[in-house]
Amino acid sequence: MSDFSQDELKTRVAQAALQYVVPGEILGVGSGSTVNKFIDALAGMKAQIVGAVSSSDASTARLRALGITVVDANDVRGLSVYVDGADEIDGQGCMIKGGGAALTREKIVAALAQRFVCIADASKRVQVLGNFPLPVEVVPAATKHILRQFAALGGAGAVRLVQGAPLVTDNGQHIVDVHGLRIVDPLAFEAMVNQWPGVLTVGVFAQQKAHVCLLASQEGVQTLNFG
Ligand code: A5P
Repeated sequence: MSDFSQDELKTRVAQAALQYVVPGEILGVGSGSTVNKFIDALAGMKAQIVGAVSSSDASTARLRALGITVVDANDVRGLSVYVDGADEIDGQGCMIKGGGAALTREKIVAALAQRFVCIADASKRVQVLGNFPLPVEVVPAATKHILRQFAALGGAGAVRLVQGAPLVTDNGQHIVDVHGLRIVDPLAFEAMVNQWPGVLTVGVFAQQKAHVCLLASQEGVQTLNFG
């Protein structure tokens, strides 16, 4: 059996996701290195794609470079399919996302879609969410208070930095990454954190969980259906 690198696994799962693209419709496209492979794979069927709603400036640039029209999320009433990666996914299709800092727009586009198709390699599959540091997009003025609230839950958080300065998201806000959480009830956790003043988006995707996950491993691409 050949040993595929993580990069090759991402390419394989990205190609497998092409079967979910509905010809003649606008497609929701997420962000991250696995999605970058998916966008590359879209090149082969771009004549059938009338447009895409993108979840990040980076994906928008990549789609446009291929000649795919990018449509504003406000200009669609809904999408059949949204294809995106995940940092972790559990046995119910709930995910941690936001490693690439694009979580707010990812959640918006996911909410527009009837079907979230998650593409990932097998290292992302977990029993309980929380090993990956949870990204939360916050209004900068609320950062310290939000970090104290996570500390009360046993989570150690820090502002994400780029070259020593806080990362500024596509929405002009900051990201905190929280270690040490064990998220056994993702739906309740997401609802709770969403209520904290200054939280723009919590990187738990339980309301907008995956309907399908394509998971690549050395054995091939497995399809997990979550309904
Ligand atoms: C981007 O903000 C994230 O939600 C990505 O979907 C997630 O980090 C997965 O990225 P990779 O495909 O690069 O692992």
